[in-house]
Amino acid sequence: MTAAKFALGSIRTANVLSKPLMGVLSDSIDVIKSAMQEVRDISPSVLADYGLSAAVSKVCDSMDDYQAIYIEYTQAGVEYKLSTEAEICAYRIVQEALNNACKYSHADKIKVQISFKSKEVMVIVSDNGIGFYPEEVKHQGGSGILNMEERAGAVDFFFDLHSIPRKGTEITLKCPRGLVKRTY
Ligand SMILES: Nc1ncnc2c1ncn2[C@@H]1O[C@H](COP(=O)(O)OP(=O)(O)OP(=O)(O)O)[C@@H](O)[C@H]1O
Ligand SMILES: [Mg+2]
Repeated sequence: MTAAKFALGSIRTANVLSKPLMGVLSDSIDVIKSAMQEVRDISPSVLADYGLSAAVSKVCDSMDDYQAIYIEYTQAGVEYKLSTEAEICAYRIVQEALNNACKYSHADKIKVQISFKSKEVMVIVSDNGIGFYPEEVKHQGGSGILNMEERAGAVDFFFDLHSIPRKGTEITLKCPRGLVKRTY
């Protein structure tokens, strides 16, 4: 679906179609976008069964095979559970950051690190690719970066995207562990 959306988007950018056909094209892109959203909304069973670290590691493996880019996954600290909502959020953000890195960065290496610290889980997705100016892409119609920011905001995660042209891009996510209820 990503490839189909990309291909149709290129035709739209080329601006070679008549107005009615452009309308049909835009409708088709919208249909693909909502189908992609539906797929994303189905929560991955590996997350519920094996936890965030295993789920993220699995995404890295599958994208590594498909994209032929070296994706290094590392975990630091002993894993503990966040709320289901928080874990799904972190998982989706990693997925989108990896998608973007694979699609646009031209990197030869992508690193995904998850650190289970005493007060928060820190997730970093970084690539050594071409980088970009975030301000410049804001009005280009993509929704991935906006979605990552919104998802993080909805569960009070710290989210930062740092990109340096010709050096690469790094996404940092900090997921607070939350207060442990004392029962005495
Ligand atoms: N890791 C990256 N390296 C280089 N460029 C990037 C990277 N991540 C994002 N970009 C640039 O930022 C743009 C916006 O990304 P965003 O995820 O918001 O939208 P998209 O990927 O184009 O579309 P969508 O995510 O909605 O399918 C991309 O089109 C690309 O130009
Ligand atoms: Mg994207």
